[in-house]
Amino acid sequence: MYNKNIVLIGFMGCGKTTIGKQLAKNCNMSFLDTDYIIQNEQKKTIEQIFNTFGEDYFRKMEKQVCTRLSTFKNCVISTGGGVVKCKDCMESLKKNGYIIYLKATPQKIYENLLNDNKRPLLNTKDKLSTIKTLLNEREHLYTQYADMVYNINDSSPFILAKNIKNSIR
Ligand code: S3P
Repeated sequence: MYNKNIVLIGFMGCGKTTIGKQLAKNCNMSFLDTDYIIQNEQKKTIEQIFNTFGEDYFRKMEKQVCTRLSTFKNCVISTGGGVVKCKDCMESLKKNGYIIYLKATPQKIYENLLNDNKRPLLNTKDKLSTIKTLLNEREHLYTQYADMVYNINDSSPFILAKNIKNSIR
């Protein structure tokens, strides 16, 4: 039993959900995903929420969910890539959790999301260039909040989950 949560942050397509599920299994912790919870509670997909109510509404939902989950214990929490833009979200998650930044190059993110159309912010003419711009805007935030950084370019989700478990034991 861990007293704290493990909170995964990082850009879209860096593998937060895949690694988080494996990590939760390895550590015998519960797995929670903020995007999944929002979609479930709103009974809408992320794209539908963005299209119907806009990004600001989504961010409000994200903040509510982060505040709630930060009171939990012994959970692996996978967050949406934009959560670092919310200072309150990060402060509450950090109070009760180790923050792990899963870092990836723009090229790797691009490759991972090549056939994806579920990320409204990346539905642009030039996906790679949008990834570079957004990552550039957010990189300092990911780094600022992280207790640990893992480069996802170099290892499989399985190895990463194992390494993260060993480092927080
Ligand atoms: C977002 C990331 C998405 C989702 C939403 C906004 C972002 O989550 O929360 O589309 O601003 O980076 P993933 O990081 O799980 O793709």
